[in-house]
Amino acid sequence: MNFHYITFKQLDSTNETAMKIVYQDKAVEGDVIVSEFQTAGKGNANNSWESEPGKNLTFSLILKPERIEPSKQFLLTVIVSLALKQLVESILQNRVVKIKWPNDIYVGNKKIAGILIQNIIFGNSIKYSIIGIGLNVNQKRFVSNAPNPVSLIHFTKKKYDLNILLSNILDKISYFYENISNRDNYFISMYENTLYKFNEQALYKAGNKIFSGSIVGVSDFGRLQIKTERGNIEEFDFKEVKFL
Ligand code: BTN
Repeated sequence: MNFHYITFKQLDSTNETAMKIVYQDKAVEGDVIVSEFQTAGKGNANNSWESEPGKNLTFSLILKPERIEPSKQFLLTVIVSLALKQLVESILQNRVVKIKWPNDIYVGNKKIAGILIQNIIFGNSIKYSIIGIGLNVNQKRFVSNAPNPVSLIHFTKKKYDLNILLSNILDKISYFYENISNRDNYFISMYENTLYKFNEQALYKAGNKIFSGSIVGVSDFGRLQIKTERGNIEEFDFKEVKFL
């Protein structure tokens, strides 16, 4: 895939800017909106995304995944999470890097990266996918109430070149993306095997209920499957279940 960089010193949110470009009908697959600073960086579920100016990677990649059926859109989450997880793993070689369902990248018990994917679906195809990625790189202190943020620099005490990281992550995403149709089951099981707390007994909260269970996989729609102590497998959507 060819990437076309559109760079900003500052904007509200790279996902928002990507969305505007899409709706102006000016988007091309491979467009990458990068900003040194976001004044209103967006996280999942209306959270905001904290990133100090110039310290971290905050960008959005535009794809046109028309060959992926909307019912399989979770595959995009799968491949982007795998790509980002592999990148972090290649840098922090002696650390345990996992994907916390659905798409947070964790090093140990701390979050190093987040992904916000927004798909634009018309009829029976995904016309565009906006893949927003925030990877904490050189930021040493976090001031928001995000529960457990961490950066690459915390682990290695080294400063990283953001452009090199960006090009590495884009290459990885592009590799997975180009192989998505023929290897989807393979990628899903790779994703499942790398999930934070996969096959481990842990506590979860759904509504008012606290229960113990172990993650056994994800459904085609990306719902999290947890085997409860009674042996039932229950499925949850994002926000229906909390990790305790
Ligand atoms: C999350 O974990 O809640 C998702 C965070 C996604 C943050 C990135 S930063 C670049 C892109 N633009 C945004 O406004 N959000 C995403």
